[in-house]
Amino acid sequence: MGQSEGKLCNQVVIVTGAAQGMGAAVANCLAEEGASVVVSDINGEKAIRVAERISSDSGRALAIKTDVTKEDEVASMVETTIARYGTISILVNNAGILYPTRIDQVTKAEWDEVLDVNLNGTFLASKAVLETMKKNQYGRIINMSSSAGRSVSTLGGVHYTAAKAGVLGFTRALAKEVAPFGITVNAICPGLINTEMARENCSPDQLRAYEASFPIPRLGRPEEVAELILFLTTAASYITGASIEINGGDLMM
Ligand SMILES: NC(=O)c1ccc[n+]([C@@H]2O[C@H](COP(=O)([O-])OP(=O)(O)OC[C@H]3O[C@@H](n4cnc5c(N)ncnc54)[C@H](O)[C@@H]3O)[C@@H](O)[C@H]2O)c1
Repeated sequence: MGQSEGKLCNQVVIVTGAAQGMGAAVANCLAEEGASVVVSDINGEKAIRVAERISSDSGRALAIKTDVTKEDEVASMVETTIARYGTISILVNNAGILYPTRIDQVTKAEWDEVLDVNLNGTFLASKAVLETMKKNQYGRIINMSSSAGRSVSTLGGVHYTAAKAGVLGFTRALAKEVAPFGITVNAICPGLINTEMARENCSPDQLRAYEASFPIPRLGRPEEVAELILFLTTAASYITGASIEINGGDLMM
């Protein structure tokens, strides 16, 4: 689809953690709908490859190397986006890390790192885009939580579940604050999705056992999560502060 067509033409999107996995799928999907997409990731080289693929498919994309835990890098990501595309209408806070560590082995440094990327990064990027969104009286913020945030993590340790639950609280509080400015804030809670994060933290046998136990007996696909985010960015004008499950029925709330 060309840039002047599609449900998101004239929209400018930042996706954090977009160099692979769900972030890359979201960047591809929103670009296909005509959005200008900033592919932001701590891994700058992989982010460039995702942006190049989108551009070669006649989409519009710009890679920006950003560590979401660094306030100055997040500020510069926002400045560069506005300099290139003029505004920001959608932010997808997708960057995340997971360690399967049990509590007796979780160091203070690892605890801080997991909270920093998953929760503090979501706070920093959201805060940084609000001035522009408020000025536009329009914005969509989507935060990547997890089934871990609603219940308990399948793969991750206590820090991961704590961070993803924190993302849900942050989503509700921010949604209430910014609703008067035409900005919605929602969280999505994926179950087990077939990405490097899942494959790195689980043996193939374990993954097969998990998927066999789900009502829809397979892992989720990154593209299926991207479709949900597309819905939240193109429709969903009366949905805010929500946490939406996408887990093949593994966790029914
Ligand atoms: N895969 C799953 O089963 C699953 C389930 C529920 C939620 N999630 C969440 O979905 C999101 C995406 O997960 P995924 O499975 O695609 O993971 P992934 O590991 O495949 O990709 C995560 C991306 O985040 C980037 N990243 C890590 N630290 C960063 C930082 N400090 N700043 C910027 N970017 C950083 C990585 O470089 C990577 O490109 C994460 O927030 C994850 O916690 C994943």
